[in-house]
Amino acid sequence: MSQPLRGVIVGTGSYAPAKVLSNADLMKLVDTSDEWIVQRTGVRERRMVGEGETPSTMGIAAAKNALENAGMTADQIDLIICGTISPDMIFPATACLIQHGLGLSEIPAFDISAACSGFIYALTVADGMIASGRYRNVLVVASDALTRFTDYSDRGSCILFGDGAGAVVLQPTDDPQRGLKYSHIGARGSGWDFIHVPAGGSRIVASAQTVAAKQHYIQMRGREVYKFAVQQMVDLMAEGMAQCGLKVEDIDLVVPHQVNQRIIESATSKLEFPLEKVFVNIDRYGNTSGASIPLALDQAHRAGRTPPGATLLLVAFGAGLTWGASVLKM
Ligand code: UT7
Repeated sequence: MSQPLRGVIVGTGSYAPAKVLSNADLMKLVDTSDEWIVQRTGVRERRMVGEGETPSTMGIAAAKNALENAGMTADQIDLIICGTISPDMIFPATACLIQHGLGLSEIPAFDISAACSGFIYALTVADGMIASGRYRNVLVVASDALTRFTDYSDRGSCILFGDGAGAVVLQPTDDPQRGLKYSHIGARGSGWDFIHVPAGGSRIVASAQTVAAKQHYIQMRGREVYKFAVQQMVDLMAEGMAQCGLKVEDIDLVVPHQVNQRIIESATSKLEFPLEKVFVNIDRYGNTSGASIPLALDQAHRAGRTPPGATLLLVAFGAGLTWGASVLKM
């Protein structure tokens, strides 16, 4: 009997805007210091979309990069899924704009709104679509421009966020040694107000008043998210490894959501992961929400840290509240 199909990553890509927002730049906007930001978050600088740059334009660039890495052309793609919470517009889906930007038409394209867990949600759905046998070459993109929703007078949140995009091309394999071995996604809607943007949707429609009250910006209960994140990250990684019968020494690289360096270090050290097995780029990009894992994954891939046969553990959590973890073999 043939093995069930599952998705394997055959190409990765990413894009980060050229414009850099450093801690020194933030010190001109709010009462903060480079020392405080580095100590509490690990972020030294982040990227920021410039004129004309949006999640769709960043997503298109990342997708082209992933297609090139896979040695494929856009017309081979038969499904596009985009994780974003900062879409170009409330509708249509950013995935449709990416489809158009890649010169494609007719193939299905839709967004997933799962915040920082968006890439793992999208990867999990893509893997299911591949397992169904209905799609063969799936483009999974995650792209966010949270600086567009950041209040640069709120020192508790503006230090964290940056913009960027990442993408992978997923193809079917029936080789039991390769591909996505495990994926778990979850949500707890009762925590919806931990991180949210109150206005601009249909509950509180955008108006001069909502703008004056800064309700179009991210509102975040940082401390509570922090506590939730550390425990959740430990539990997600431990459960993923247990379900796959893997130990720390079997994992070649952890690619965590670049949420906050302290959260990453605290969670990975609890499981006794050595630092060199954890990919971190938060110092240069900040927290790019859904884009953070595929952006990091692409950099790890191009740096030769994900060779064929490598076992990777991806882990994320974010607004929703949502979370997800995947174990995959390259
Ligand atoms: O992807 C999910 C998105 N959300 C997150 O990742 C949020 C997760 N949470 C965090 O990363 C951290 O909670 C923060 C980095 C946001 C904040 O760090 P913290 O260690 O939790 O600080 P805190 O909020 O407990 O504040 C401690 C102190 C406060 O002063 P007092 O009340 O003790 O006098 C804050 O007012 O630090 C102060 N503070 C700052 N000081 C200098 C808060 N922000 C800053 C700042 N610069 N930027």
